Amino acid sequence: MKLNWPLMVDNITREDLDRLVAFLSQDPPPRLTQASNVIAFEKAWAQWVGVKHCVFVNSGASANLITMAALKYKVGVGEVIVPSLTWSSDIVSVVQAGMQPVFVDINPRTLSMDTDLILAAITDKTKAVFMTHAQGFNGLTQKLLDELEKRNILLIEDVCESHGATFKGKKCGAIGFASNFSFYFAHHMSTIEGGMVCTNDDQFYSDIRLFRSHGMTRESPYEQIKQDYIDAEPELNPEFIFWFPGYNVRNTEIGGVLGLSGLPKLDGNNKKRYDNFAYFLSKLSPDRFQTDFALEGSINYAFNVILKDKNDPMFDRICEALRAANVEFRRGSAGGGNMLRQPFVRPYVEDGSYWEYPVTEHIHFYGFYVGNYPELTKEKIDQLCELLNNA
Ligand SMILES: Cc1ncc(COP(=O)(O)O)c(C=O)c1O
Repeated sequence: MKLNWPLMVDNITREDLDRLVAFLSQDPPPRLTQASNVIAFEKAWAQWVGVKHCVFVNSGASANLITMAALKYKVGVGEVIVPSLTWSSDIVSVVQAGMQPVFVDINPRTLSMDTDLILAAITDKTKAVFMTHAQGFNGLTQKLLDELEKRNILLIEDVCESHGATFKGKKCGAIGFASNFSFYFAHHMSTIEGGMVCTNDDQFYSDIRLFRSHGMTRESPYEQIKQDYIDAEPELNPEFIFWFPGYNVRNTEIGGVLGLSGLPKLDGNNKKRYDNFAYFLSKLSPDRFQTDFALEGSINYAFNVILKDKNDPMFDRICEALRAANVEFRRGSAGGGNMLRQPFVRPYVEDGSYWEYPVTEHIHFYGFYVGNYPELTKEKIDQLCELLNNA
């Protein structure tokens, strides 16, 4: 039976596009580069997350990139603790900032870094913990937050694939020193491409605004900070003081309009995704698959399927059955599995050290995900579970 199950359904709707068309049809034509809609979306997102400041950029990877670049200027070069299971840009941003990534394995119930392993990896060179809230799960624990505070180590949250996940009722992304989101179409909500940096820190907010736009000091939202830069460089044109080696990762008004249109639907869609995932797990065979995920506070846009045992023939049969039923899936979960196996990571880790991350290694070979979107019905989820349980 064909289930015809795409990995993701675009969550930009007809209504969103109509709103965009109405915006574009204005006379005189609207400005399309970053302007009032970008600012309005930043404000709306800050309110939704529960943070003071947001900076809209052109992708989640760009949010990672400028967060790590600005962090390096704040704390200096050192080690950043990162997960073995994450997206490439979480590691790329660290190494491009000249920081050393220190890898930590994940907790199988949250697919995010394990608290005890993080604490064991901390050294006197540790500058930050870059937590990926993987696949919709909250990765934080009170023990981790307490220890990081005690040791004065910054927490940066990557919430690119977990919009709406919570820890003790507070949104992930509002807890660390800074956080990143992605609005790529595969995620909980989309602005075509897009990302956000969030923080409660005024100086970091100012720095991030500079990094977003060529490192130019006139991008600071604060008159006093702007004046300090001008006073420090009296021989430079105040309009063109390039303080940081910044980038241009701005988004556009089109992204701003789509963000404002999509945000009111996010909570409703997230509720459906949560219900879908809970129902999926209740129907999945606990003898064959891991079903004891930490559901509390999670909002998954994917059904994670992980074999309990290292059973190659069963895994192959399942993949074959999925292909035959036209169900799209991605092996290895977030980022395709163990990041330490990726060619670009090899210069930063010891040869063959991917074996030291057994939970991620298991998912690399015996895990995959299937899309979870609001439109799914229980009947369809039943059919998928039947296929998985019987393959
Ligand atoms: C955890 C994580 N970080 C960063 C990114 C990068 O986001 P983008 O695709 O918007 O560049 C992704 C993308 O899937 C992600 O899952």
